[in-house]
Amino acid sequence: MFLHTTGCVIAALILMAAPLLVSATANQAGGSLTAGARGPTEEGAELYRGYCAACHGAGGVGDGPVASALKTRPTNLTRLAATNRGIFPAQRVAMVLEFGVMVAAHGTTDMPTWGATFRAMGDDVLVRQRVAALTRHLQTLQVR
Ligand code: HEC
Repeated sequence: MFLHTTGCVIAALILMAAPLLVSATANQAGGSLTAGARGPTEEGAELYRGYCAACHGAGGVGDGPVASALKTRPTNLTRLAATNRGIFPAQRVAMVLEFGVMVAAHGTTDMPTWGATFRAMGDDVLVRQRVAALTRHLQTLQVR
């Protein structure tokens, strides 16, 4: 009986810790493994390489290897500020990343929604952290 209960508690602890373990592994999977040596900007660049560059291109102009296979050309991410009167639309970018691109009724888009993907690897904190890191990275790509 005692052993049985202990087993349950341990199993429950492992279950509760699983998302943390997964997110820790996911955080490390991207590159440099030295804890604390990676700043937020670096995290954004890493996430960008892993999740975005295939379509949007390494430099963000929309020329990734997958781009030509898509119905819609991936947005040129270096011109988000230029096409918004010179102001980087940080809030819109964060919304698009978490909830997806707004499309006209019955329309579809090739741009994936990232909120659910990141949430599946961790929790709301991880989602916010990754969306913020990616948004900051996109800001560094803006042409003047
Ligand atoms: C499968 C290809 C693909 C991937 C991967 C992808 N995108 Fe996109 N993205 C697109 C396409 C296509 C559009 C244009 C959407 C449209 O107009 O329907 C787009 C549009 C956007 C936009 C512009 C939205 C707007 O307000 O007009 C942003 C910002 C963006 N992507 C950022 C990202 C980031 C950051 C990542 C990585 C986390 C990413 N994308 C990954 C294909 C992709």
